[in-house]
Amino acid sequence: MYGRRRRTQHERAPCSSPSLGAATTAFLARQHQAFIGGQWVNAESGQTLDTFDPGFGRVIAKVAACDAPDVDKAVAAARHAFEDGPWSRASGSDRARMMWRLADLIERHAAELAELESLNNGKPLAAVRNIDIALSCEVLRYTAGWATKITGETISLSTAPQMHAFTLREPIGVIGQIIPWNSPIMMAAWKLAPALAAGCTIVLKPAEQTPLTALRLAQLIQEAGIPDGVVNIVPGFGPSAGAAIAAHPDVDKVAFTGSGEVGRLIIQAAAGNLKKISLELGGKSPVIVFPDADMRVAVPGAARAIFANSGQVCAAGSRLYVHKSVFDQIIEGIAVEAKKIRVGHALSDGTQMGPLVSKEQLERVSGYVEQGQKDGVTVVTGGKRIGDEGYFIEPTILTNTRPEMSVVREEIFGPVLCAMTFDDEDLDRIAKEANRTVYGLAGSVWTRDLGIAHKMVRKIRAGTIGVNVHGSIDPALPFGGFKQSGWGREKGRDVLDLYTEVKAVVMSL
Ligand code: NAI
Ligand code: MG
Repeated sequence: MYGRRRRTQHERAPCSSPSLGAATTAFLARQHQAFIGGQWVNAESGQTLDTFDPGFGRVIAKVAACDAPDVDKAVAAARHAFEDGPWSRASGSDRARMMWRLADLIERHAAELAELESLNNGKPLAAVRNIDIALSCEVLRYTAGWATKITGETISLSTAPQMHAFTLREPIGVIGQIIPWNSPIMMAAWKLAPALAAGCTIVLKPAEQTPLTALRLAQLIQEAGIPDGVVNIVPGFGPSAGAAIAAHPDVDKVAFTGSGEVGRLIIQAAAGNLKKISLELGGKSPVIVFPDADMRVAVPGAARAIFANSGQVCAAGSRLYVHKSVFDQIIEGIAVEAKKIRVGHALSDGTQMGPLVSKEQLERVSGYVEQGQKDGVTVVTGGKRIGDEGYFIEPTILTNTRPEMSVVREEIFGPVLCAMTFDDEDLDRIAKEANRTVYGLAGSVWTRDLGIAHKMVRKIRAGTIGVNVHGSIDPALPFGGFKQSGWGREKGRDVLDLYTEVKAVVMSL
């Protein structure tokens, strides 16, 4: 469906009203309540929040706006399920089977879930189907494999070798999960999978902008046979429902993905009962192109690194460093790619880039571009809002940027690339520039020289490094940040450390 009708300039694709399938229409017409202890309930306050189609800026549904009393009920349900219910007696193999059933159900309802996500988030339908939904299923299946492989060790004591000592790995308990809006269903699956595999129970708060697929997922969770109370979904705003989860004295751990600003608030709120915390925060990831790179790979790769999902990706390659000798060639190439991108409503045929998620994000991203212009950047292409309906912005490339500018230092979270040159061969100096950021989520190096590649991999201080590829995501690959990009690693085997406690046992026989 991509590229049926190419446009060279960014007018919005026409779409007066997206046509939705029967299942999506029926779901939208439902009352959107919280899912607590296996029951659908209104927020105790009776309040709702509006959720939008960012392609038109229109309200598509009203959703329960939960607050502290609702979080209390959800935590109580999760505690009961953790300690007393059938879940507390389920084996790893039982949990794995339920997770596989959930993945199968997501796959069976992929068309409907994709439509709902696309409508609510603004991500093109094909991308939701092929990336978000596919990876949600994959991460559930991959992580289900670990449910039967959570083991301790036998240990030879150095001071008392006659004692029998071993470790057990036990689930942490009730987990609060607070997720963002940039890949809503995928974020939910990535958070739920390790908690379920480890035998924890969950209170999950989707982002206020995009609560719909998490609520549809709750129905599938029930259908998959996951016992009531194991997964509770409490939609609501951050400062109310989110803050209540972070501060709750009976939540054992909080897992958060979102801004550094809220990450800090969560750390403060968690201090009360010293709950465990894992954080996946933002980034300002470097893409470093050496003169020997294969330009046919590097140009589209660098373009995808920043323009995918309208740049609303934590690992986005937003700082481009190119050797002076190929700078013009690379920038021209990425500009051609940028102008080719078909921007339109997420559900319009052929759309390759949708709107930003909200009016706030449009203002935020536009504000950064304006500030950059005041600071003296050159706008090579893009920079402007598209149309006056919905939250569309042009794919944008900025040059003549300097390290102290806010566009270079701060996470923009939009399709805005800041390009810089380097002109020496000193890898330490190049790496120092790339590392001149408070973040450390990802980075990529584009070269055919294995020596340069391996050396740069070690010099870049970030959690995921690509060579001739940027921001690869796989259920088996640990993901997380150095420095202010977060605490802990999700996915892969490493994620089990975030959801289990180690118990040391010593036996005097
Ligand atoms: P945010 O960090 O405010 O929101 C993320 C989640 O945290 C949402 O579920 C929200 O309801 C919740 N939240 C907000 N305030 C809270 C609080 N006081 N206590 C507990 N939970 C709270 O992100 P926002 O404002 O939507 O986006 C602002 C910027 O954050 C973006 O422009 C981007 O730079 C960054 N961001 C990074 C993401 C990532 O994947 N690392 C995802 C989303 C945003
Ligand atoms: Mg916020």
